[in-house]
Amino acid sequence: MNQAHQTHQTALVTGAYRGIGRELTRQLAARGWRVVAVHRRPADPAGGPLRALGALELPEVDVRRPAGLLAAVRALGVERLDLLINNAGVFLNEALGAIDYDDVLTQLEVNAVAPLRVTEELLPLLGAGSKVVQVTSRMGSIADNTSGAYYGYRMSKAALNAASASLALDLRPRGVAVALVHPGFVRTEMTGGRGLIEPEESARGILARADALTLAESGGFWHVDGSRLPW
Ligand SMILES: NC(=O)c1ccc[n+]([C@@H]2O[C@H](COP(=O)([O-])OP(=O)(O)OC[C@H]3O[C@@H](n4cnc5c(N)ncnc54)[C@H](OP(=O)(O)O)[C@@H]3O)[C@@H](O)[C@H]2O)c1
Repeated sequence: MNQAHQTHQTALVTGAYRGIGRELTRQLAARGWRVVAVHRRPADPAGGPLRALGALELPEVDVRRPAGLLAAVRALGVERLDLLINNAGVFLNEALGAIDYDDVLTQLEVNAVAPLRVTEELLPLLGAGSKVVQVTSRMGSIADNTSGAYYGYRMSKAALNAASASLALDLRPRGVAVALVHPGFVRTEMTGGRGLIEPEESARGILARADALTLAESGGFWHVDGSRLPW
């Protein structure tokens, strides 16, 4: 058995079509992992960019409605996930005095509720040694909030953090570890191309956090650089 075969592991990444998710998919595939790249774009019969990266593509999946995702993943021949990365997210800017409450609810639904639903949907594929990485934001830290604003986004990532603390406790008996990782300030469409790092560096750091994650530290909240973030 060659080394690649011995270490063949399977990951699922949401929001895989662009940004940090695309880069996570690329790097995992380059490591020799089997990657299920989940996105909500239409299926491309010619094979889209994710298939070109060597990933198994699952198109037309809105993370807000993940019913059927388990069956679709199983239909790809996947019976176990070593790593689930809930990466899909939205950032909708609001200023006090002009808050759009539909936007607030959308962010809560996509950033907080959907990762919980996706994780619950895929529970049968998670077992001893599996890891769940929630791509959160330090903007969800209440202790770290020194600049205000961004109501829906901050609320949604704080709610994701709360849900993930429960997931870590509830999944511990199954041997499944959970990490909350802030990916850094990353140059993607979400930030309008602003940021301090490229998706390549962010994804590398997220995967390093996943590699380092142990059951003993499950439920922690990390910056992508490996430092701990306050709640
Ligand atoms: N960039 C940063 O500085 C930064 C900082 C802190 C945290 N984060 C977090 O990092 C994650 C990735 O962000 P990014 O910077 O890569 O953003 P991005 O380039 O805007 O990508 C967001 C991804 O999420 C997908 N998505 C959004 N809503 C979805 C839905 N309802 N169903 C399925 N997929 C959905 C998008 O799909 P479509 O292509 O179909 O729209 C896209 O693939 C997010 O959770 C974000 O909150 C980013």
